[in-house]
Amino acid sequence: MATVIDGKGLAAKMRAEAAKDVAALKRAGVNPGLAVVLVGDDQASATYVRSKLRDCEECGIASFDYKLPADASQDEILQLVRNLNDDPKITGILVQMPLPSHLDAEEIIEAISPLKDVDGFHPTSLGRLVRGLPGLRPCTPAGIMVMLDEYNIELAGKNAVIVGRSSIVGKPMAHMLLERDATISVAHSRTRNLDEICRSADILVVACGIARLVKGDWVRPGATVIDVGMDRDEDGRLCGDVDYDDVFNVAGAITPVPGGVGPMTRAMLMSNVVTAARMQAE
Ligand code: GUN
Repeated sequence: MATVIDGKGLAAKMRAEAAKDVAALKRAGVNPGLAVVLVGDDQASATYVRSKLRDCEECGIASFDYKLPADASQDEILQLVRNLNDDPKITGILVQMPLPSHLDAEEIIEAISPLKDVDGFHPTSLGRLVRGLPGLRPCTPAGIMVMLDEYNIELAGKNAVIVGRSSIVGKPMAHMLLERDATISVAHSRTRNLDEICRSADILVVACGIARLVKGDWVRPGATVIDVGMDRDEDGRLCGDVDYDDVFNVAGAITPVPGGVGPMTRAMLMSNVVTAARMQAE
């Protein structure tokens, strides 16, 4: 039976840390402020945004909520981002993804000042990660690194397999694990023998968006399994990319869904807001 990695509990601890850091920054005259931009009326996105605003309140971070209609133009959003870049009350900018399909998300992400890029999506942030330089890291993989460290999962010399190659999770995850001397394989939709590759993993990170894809016999006994999925099964129930009940008896440690990676991603955002405010105060 696997150790269940308690993302929810660890995230609460991280928010308490962030709250302390925010209080210290305020005493030094630095007031962190997060702008959250939501375009359109996607219900899941609206829910995520509400949670992030609630987290800000808990941590003592001022939040500024910008809601734009689904037909907002590219120029309108770019202008908003530029205004936020120039606004000293705003120390972090988050544009909730996905954006409506008529918008160019890459151009909008690039318009965000790298100093305020609390999502870590800007090419400068990703470039700094690849170069091994300090900077703002994408929240999901950064939160996963905190979990791995908290549970003393050894990384140096271990085989890490990442299923999924997104710019938000898979690619930055690969670089963060590489930075810690793991040996990395990145699998994706064109990968052959995926089950075999997963079985080679000491650390398996699954971020492909396919409900319960990873089965117990895909996992090496004792491996650490990190499930980034937020899927719905045939009955509409929330589940991950890992077949939890099946893998639980094989893995050494596993993250649940919900209560694993999700809360850590949000807590990492608070930590990034603190980091960004510090970077701008320097
Ligand atoms: N959509 C899904 N996850 C995220 C995230 O971490 N940040 C933003 N901005 N949008 C998202």
